[in-house]
Amino acid sequence: MLTQEIIIARRQAQPLGEAEIGQFVRGIVDGSVGEGQIAAFCMATCLNPMDVTERVALTRAMATSGITLDWSDQSLDGPVLDKHSTGGVGDKVSLMLAPIVAACGGFVPMLSGRGLGHTGGTLDKMDSIPGYVSQPPLDKIRKVVKEQGCAIIGATKDLAPADRTMYAVRDVTGTVESLDLITASILSKKMAAGLDGLVMDVKFGSGAFMQDYGDARALAESIVGVANGGGLPCTALMTDMDQVLGRTAGNAIEVREAIEFLRNENIDQRLYDVTIELSAELLLLGKLADTIEDARAKCVENLKNGRAAHFFERMVAALGGPSDIIDRFDKHMKLAPIEHAVYPDQGGVVQSINVRQIGYAVIELDGGRRLVTDKIDHGTGMAAMAAIGERVGRDAAPLCVIVGRDEVKIKRAEEIIKRAYTIAPPGEALSSDPIIRERIT
Ligand code: URA
Repeated sequence: MLTQEIIIARRQAQPLGEAEIGQFVRGIVDGSVGEGQIAAFCMATCLNPMDVTERVALTRAMATSGITLDWSDQSLDGPVLDKHSTGGVGDKVSLMLAPIVAACGGFVPMLSGRGLGHTGGTLDKMDSIPGYVSQPPLDKIRKVVKEQGCAIIGATKDLAPADRTMYAVRDVTGTVESLDLITASILSKKMAAGLDGLVMDVKFGSGAFMQDYGDARALAESIVGVANGGGLPCTALMTDMDQVLGRTAGNAIEVREAIEFLRNENIDQRLYDVTIELSAELLLLGKLADTIEDARAKCVENLKNGRAAHFFERMVAALGGPSDIIDRFDKHMKLAPIEHAVYPDQGGVVQSINVRQIGYAVIELDGGRRLVTDKIDHGTGMAAMAAIGERVGRDAAPLCVIVGRDEVKIKRAEEIIKRAYTIAPPGEALSSDPIIRERIT
């Protein structure tokens, strides 16, 4: 079939077969399908959604458009598992989940990304550890996963290359927002990684990629349906991003919070709930536990007894970082020198938080990028972020403590943060909604 016939079929919402979709995707990689044609295909797909069979075919074709990881020759004595989050602010779950699951017997090639828009990126966080190589060659990834149980690393460009090209076209042609295309984009990279199970953390709320619950839920259903249809066991949790996850936002500062968590110190309850539940889902998917209760108990035990911390430390060392990051994180990861507490103009109780704005405040401190080419300041960010329902004010707690390097930037971040928080009068009884809203299977 000619490429233009494939595009016309999509435009007219006539179902395409696996062969035609495969031909189109191969053309993206070998260059025989041009950018204009990719854009037309994507726009037609935004306007005319695919049926499930087409969506699975597109995802599969993109997943196999480059190299695919095959772990069968590694004789691993456990399942290969991963988690993917649709992104948020303060989301450091991967840093605890990977070693917890590894400590429970899973193997976790945690393919992570950089910050996107207002959301932070796991790779940027890991890059705040001196010496840590977050984008090692494939051989090294295999070795570290096999020997240390987990590796938090960036996807190599050879995995699902069709997605890379298609995403760049979508980004500039107003065609990002399509359930079919988002599903295929996210899952193609995960399927190429040769997983035995995937858990999705699909976020909703002011700090999420999809703020509306219904839209986020539709994405979760689509991903779970296509993954399972394509042979990758998958469940999703719908989690709240109407507040920062945990108490910190930034890079090194988030790694410190994650390390404290692994040391069983200063654990934020919401961060704990979501980390344990996502980890437990993976144990179930990987058949490392029979029931969700058993899975949770295993995760908690391996966190409490320090094994998860040990796995994290070994992974960091194997990827070039210090060998004593758990005990000496203060020495290895220096934060910016100025600490500035932010108070609301009127004290009271936190009613709501515009989390997207908190993400922008991190960027204001150079903790995130405005342009792809920007260099990040890993030492800046926010600590002690107040949560919904908590008392704030000069006589109580601050909204947060900014950690920065430059007074002018700190001032600008302070203004953004103050505007992002809505404060109710003192005495108002407000509480946070549960962080996990629903499980999609
Ligand atoms: N993340 C991805 O990897 N792809 C999308 O299309 C959207 C978010």
